Amino acid sequence: MKIDLSGKTAVIVGGSGGLGEAMANTLSDAGAAVAIVGRSQAKLDKVAGAIKAKGGNVESFTADMTSESDVARLAKDVNAKFPNPQILINSAGVNNRKDLTEFTLKEWTTVVDSSLVTTFLACHAFIPGMKGTGYGRIINLSSIMAHISLPGRTAYSSGKAGLLGLTKALALELASEGITANCISPGPFHTEMNLPVINNPEANKMFLQKLPVGRWGKVEEIGGLACYLCSDLAGFITGTDILIDGGWTAS
Ligand SMILES: NC(=O)c1ccc[n+]([C@@H]2O[C@H](COP(=O)([O-])OP(=O)(O)OC[C@H]3O[C@@H](n4cnc5c(N)ncnc54)[C@H](OP(=O)(O)O)[C@@H]3O)[C@@H](O)[C@H]2O)c1
Repeated sequence: MKIDLSGKTAVIVGGSGGLGEAMANTLSDAGAAVAIVGRSQAKLDKVAGAIKAKGGNVESFTADMTSESDVARLAKDVNAKFPNPQILINSAGVNNRKDLTEFTLKEWTTVVDSSLVTTFLACHAFIPGMKGTGYGRIINLSSIMAHISLPGRTAYSSGKAGLLGLTKALALELASEGITANCISPGPFHTEMNLPVINNPEANKMFLQKLPVGRWGKVEEIGGLACYLCSDLAGFITGTDILIDGGWTAS
């Protein structure tokens, strides 16, 4: 069965790298128009160029998604290009790994805000335009670190666990509109965010030992799941979280 998202527009916050880039590619391949968002224009240009080269309909937008004024400008600019996008994927996020007592408050809130504030502001900006058509999809990137954790992850786990709560409540608020809200919780994927682990032989070995499949996730593996959640096949899935982690949390 081939998923067809033609006629739909997806805003992919964090679409300029890693998992967001992979989801932008898959949704575009399935026919959706995609609006990719990040802070670095250079990163956005690279991703948009590759999607355009395949014939995709893509526009890029710079915004710091923790900034209320940036998000207000973004919503205006996106709506001018693609009125009332029906799909929103929140894939922005940063990590900073250290013990709680080593964090400054600013460092800690930067990590939490990169998940929670970015998602709140994006939902706040784009949900009103989704209402009234009987269809909408919101996907928030949480993490297995919302379910289990490791030393040094107090900020990251807090932000990601917060997203699970936000997503459940949001799903209830939007259920009667035909708008679903779900989390995807990835295990370790080979992206820029994980370079500190990948480049540390001891940490890399520890991660691989925790992965029953014996390897890191490939970014393309996120795209299929996102595409499915955006399809009509997944209209009954809402308020939940799908783990994609090579079996880490099952072991
Ligand atoms: N990779 C994994 O193994 C993994 C596992 C579990 C969960 N996750 C979650 O999945 C999501 C994507 O991770 P990833 O590995 O793809 O990360 P990544 O490769 O570092 O990409 C993150 C993207 O978010 C953008 N971004 C970060 N902060 C932003 C902000 N304040 N405003 C706008 N854009 C921002 C970045 O672009 P700019 O830097 O240009 O802004 C980049 O495009 C994150 O939420 C992450 O926590 C990842």
